Amino acid sequence: MAGADTADTGTAPDSAARVRELQARLNHHSALYYAGKPEIPDGDFDSLLSELKTLEDRHPELVHPDSPTQRVGAPPDTAFAPVRHEPPMMSLHNALDIEELRAWHERVHRALPTLEAPGVGDFSVELKFDGLAISVRYENGVLVRAATRGDGRTGEDVTHSVRTIADIPIRLRGDAPAVLEVRGEVILRLSTFVALNARQAERGEKAYVNPRNAAAGSLRQKDARVTAERGLSFWCYQLGYAEGAPAFSSHMQTLEWLRSLGLPVNEHSARLPDLAAVEAHVTDFERRRHEFDYEFDGLVVKVDDLGLQDRLGVDAKAPRWAVAYKFPPEERTTKLLDIE
Ligand code: IVH
Repeated sequence: MAGADTADTGTAPDSAARVRELQARLNHHSALYYAGKPEIPDGDFDSLLSELKTLEDRHPELVHPDSPTQRVGAPPDTAFAPVRHEPPMMSLHNALDIEELRAWHERVHRALPTLEAPGVGDFSVELKFDGLAISVRYENGVLVRAATRGDGRTGEDVTHSVRTIADIPIRLRGDAPAVLEVRGEVILRLSTFVALNARQAERGEKAYVNPRNAAAGSLRQKDARVTAERGLSFWCYQLGYAEGAPAFSSHMQTLEWLRSLGLPVNEHSARLPDLAAVEAHVTDFERRRHEFDYEFDGLVVKVDDLGLQDRLGVDAKAPRWAVAYKFPPEERTTKLLDIE
């Protein structure tokens, strides 16, 4: 029967059409709102949003990951509540120059009995993003919680803010495992940072000193709409915990898998065969660091083989299988042109 409500056997076609229309209209209006050019009063926006919420509650199959209901809502009671990290989110040992990188490489070789492991095989080398480390948990492919690193054992619940980060999927693609916890860095792109400071100046508010501070301030907002407006980005660099995931033998395989699930893995991660190649690679990126629209303060070198990572283990502060090669701090000089 045309136009009949088929709720018993599926979704009512009218509801499906209305949900799609509301999702599109609200996404359109929130983009205008964040661009500082709202076309409808806040009250109208809120009543459309509440109509959409009611319909989606009744027809959960119509909840699209991009639905505005999935991105921004009232701050939950759990905002900033303590979240325990299991396993802990460790820090990294630093190598401040090539000599220290060589010393780390030496230690890795010494720690592995040479008869069993004549070499350590490949290294994976990634950019070391200068932002804020977070952990994001998915259950059956749906984002359920996100937390800051905190002291590494316990962080703060920032799910409401993280849901607004467009780079971070609300729902994973493909064959998602039962549980997946990934770690990565929330950053602010340089172009976004410049635009944010221009807006701050227009509104007579204080400028942020650097993208990292701006990213931190944006994530720790109670009002997720403020976070959404900031346009944060995310790079995922480490698998924290998984249940029901395929078995992997190398870190690079885990990164490729995370990418296949729709998580943003930076394209400049490389698998390199030996220390000479690692040295050439880090030197190259140090020279090119200003070509990018985001900041990185070094590169992270990891023993790629997960079996060897296990055998190397961790110490009190950081894993023995990884090291952060840090660029020397940049000398910045300011030339005083004039005094008015
Ligand atoms: S791996 C157990 N990879 O650097 C190893 N960390 O100084 C976990 N960071 O706490 C970290 N880029 O916040 C890893 N590609 C990358 C990274 C990265 C940035 C941060 C992370 C970590 C800090 C250590």
